[in-house]
Amino acid sequence: MSIPTQLQRLADGIGAAVGLAPDGMEREIRAALRDATTGERWLPLERRRANHERYARHLLYGDPAGRFSVLSLVWDHGQESPIHGHHTWCAVGVYDGDLTETHYRSQGGRAPVELGTAQRAAGSLSFDLPQSAIHRIGNRSGAVAISLHVYGVAADRIATGVNRLYSTA
Ligand SMILES: [Fe+2]
Repeated sequence: MSIPTQLQRLADGIGAAVGLAPDGMEREIRAALRDATTGERWLPLERRRANHERYARHLLYGDPAGRFSVLSLVWDHGQESPIHGHHTWCAVGVYDGDLTETHYRSQGGRAPVELGTAQRAAGSLSFDLPQSAIHRIGNRSGAVAISLHVYGVAADRIATGVNRLYSTA
């Protein structure tokens, strides 16, 4: 499958950003994600496919140098992530639909305490440094929602190198 022009532009923008100091990196990654989440719809159908069991994660792009990966996450109605933090930097842009982000804090290994929620409509952007935010993303709307996620790990490390899970027990 050939890479859509918009995805190549996003990957090029992130590739140029990851070598910058943190402020510049965040600014440039946000700009690249803004470009990719507004305007023309470009995500191929097979990368917009929901999974009825849980939110779907589709790899869109793995940086050949292993510096970052780009995924589309497809959230059917009622689906949500676990409560998690990140081992790596992470940027999110909502591509389609409406998501709800819930923030938490956790001290001394205790169960996370909810701080509040934010609505994330299409075009909404966020950027988190490693070990900063603890959150959960979910779809409480009546329609499928899609978000683009960029993580600072190689594609073969997405399963184990990104999320740090918290138990609510
Ligand atoms: Fe996250």
